[in-house]
Amino acid sequence: MAVLFDFSHLPILETERLRLRAITHADAQALIDLFAHPDVQQYIILEPPCGTLDEAVAFIDWMSGHFLNRAAARWAITLKGGDDRLIGTIGFHFWSREHRRVDIGYDLNRAYWGRGYVTEATHTLVRWCFDNLDLHRVQADCTAGNLASERVLEKVGFTHEGTWRESIFEHGRFVDIKQYGLLRREYLGKR
Ligand SMILES: CC(C)(COP(=O)(O)OP(=O)(O)OC[C@H]1O[C@@H](n2cnc3c(N)ncnc32)[C@H](O)[C@@H]1OP(=O)(O)O)[C@@H](O)C(=O)NCCC(=O)NCCS
Repeated sequence: MAVLFDFSHLPILETERLRLRAITHADAQALIDLFAHPDVQQYIILEPPCGTLDEAVAFIDWMSGHFLNRAAARWAITLKGGDDRLIGTIGFHFWSREHRRVDIGYDLNRAYWGRGYVTEATHTLVRWCFDNLDLHRVQADCTAGNLASERVLEKVGFTHEGTWRESIFEHGRFVDIKQYGLLRREYLGKR
């Protein structure tokens, strides 16, 4: 078995068009811009909120806290060869060493949707997680109706395993949550 990720630092991950790097306080305004768009907010609940500079810095510290607790890691999505501006985030959370699984999540500034960026980043993240966290399974969930997110997961090879009916109170209504999973053997078979 490969040496497990030890959280000593967050590695830079590169895809064909993207560079995934650590999120710092300098990304606060880009995070506000990312989450300000109603289309981005539609299927997520931001807790803690990220609407002001103080909140964005607290949000970054909240993510760093999960990293320091060795439970989660979140990367900034930036364009390779660009100005290093954060255009989205991606990462894993709820790492269970016992059950050898993580959940993943992502979001992208509205101006960059539909170019395959998050599919590209998710392929790389999933590969990195299987290679470095000794996982049996990677899972993700999304609000029913979030067709872009469903499509990303399907393109990366996830299977829709079931739906929790009205399990989250999101933006004033109960919504169904679709659960997706990708097993190591399925991932290796598709490599
Ligand atoms: C989900 C999200 C990250 C996708 O990012 P993206 O880089 O635009 O995704 P990609 O371009 O890699 O893939 C999106 C796919 O969904 C498809 N899609 C997008 N909107 C769609 C819609 N309304 N109906 C059907 N398909 C749709 C695209 O056509 C594309 O599929 P294709 O390559 O087969 O054509 C982005 O929409 C986002 O930030 N949403 C808000 C935050 C969010 O929902 N995060 C996930 C929470 S579970």
